[in-house]
Amino acid sequence: MHWNAAIIFALTAPVTALIRFQCSQLVTQRLDPLVSPGIVPSPHVHQIVGGDSFNITMDPKKDMPGESTCTTCQFSEDFSNYWTAILYFRARNGTYKRVPQLANSGFAGATGGGMTVYYMQDPLYDQQQKSKVTAFQPGFRMFVGDIAARTKAQASKFRQLTYTCLETMGSRDHETVAFPSHACKVGIMTSLRFPTCWDGVNLDSPDHNSHMAYPESGTFESAGPCPASHPVRTSQLMYEVIWDTSKFNNKEDWPEDGSQPFVWSFGDATGFANHGDYLFGWKNDALQKILDTPCYVNCNGAKTQTVAEMNKCAGLPEVVHEDIDGWLTELPGGHQAQYN
Ligand SMILES: *[C@@H]1O[C@H](CO)[C@@H](O)[C@H](O)[C@H]1NC(C)=O
Ligand SMILES: *[C@@H]1O[C@H](CO)[C@@H](O)[C@H](O)[C@H]1NC(C)=O
Repeated sequence: MHWNAAIIFALTAPVTALIRFQCSQLVTQRLDPLVSPGIVPSPHVHQIVGGDSFNITMDPKKDMPGESTCTTCQFSEDFSNYWTAILYFRARNGTYKRVPQLANSGFAGATGGGMTVYYMQDPLYDQQQKSKVTAFQPGFRMFVGDIAARTKAQASKFRQLTYTCLETMGSRDHETVAFPSHACKVGIMTSLRFPTCWDGVNLDSPDHNSHMAYPESGTFESAGPCPASHPVRTSQLMYEVIWDTSKFNNKEDWPEDGSQPFVWSFGDATGFANHGDYLFGWKNDALQKILDTPCYVNCNGAKTQTVAEMNKCAGLPEVVHEDIDGWLTELPGGHQAQYN
């Protein structure tokens, strides 16, 4: 009996960590210090979470933990910034309305819904997490996705940028790379998984993506090897963002041909241009330490703060003054819905 129990323990106990935490929304506006640094306003609206040193320009040498006074993330040594576009509903009369967000289960009350962030060393479903990965370094940043993609073929260059139609808060099946085609009872969840092989040298690259690569064969989930050009295996960073589309499920307001009505803040109405941005900003070696400490999801070793404390950091001063919440005749920045 004891021997059996030991075997079961060995098969299920984590060896390294998979961490998951919520971040409240820091600010929602047209700024993008990764793709268009210094440009105010940037071309489209983003929702940003993380450390409050976020600004129009983010020099890679900037000391994000040092210059931040707080973070909107539950893991309080994480002053990184994470951001995505925001979603709009386009009514049959052609006007747009911002889709509100929901916090993931267990994080009710997080300002603006924000997002859930994961760092995993093996697939999400593997509770053992036994791979060893190298944490990102200060100054590291990356982008995933293609804002110009409007076809499945263009989107296929990126793996696992998906949507889940939430019939309940817990729905996790049937991920799609296009927007769900039918009304989703609770909302739509976006999952953005970043590539996991680093060239080991460059903290960034001109397209903010080519210093990273996908495994050479197989996938991250199947422990596929990294290519020789990008030999360093990193954790898989994943964002989950939940859009509360439930208020927009009245079919009378959907396009007459029955197609889906949602559109990204930069105009993509296909969903294929799903994308995300990341600026690493963990304090000292906190991320590496957490990743090396065995735990699965509920990682007590990490320094954390409450939702109320996260929310205290939310609400950076507005830099771009414009209406992003009313019924709009065009998306902020002058975009219109594009279907191809
Ligand atoms: C952002 O940078 C500007 C200077 O470009 C500075 O005046 C402002 O205080 C900074 N904001 C924050 C929140 O650090
Ligand atoms: C367009 O439709 C929406 C949703 O029915 C409505 O709330 C809005 O007032 C309409 N706008 C105009 C200009 O008709």
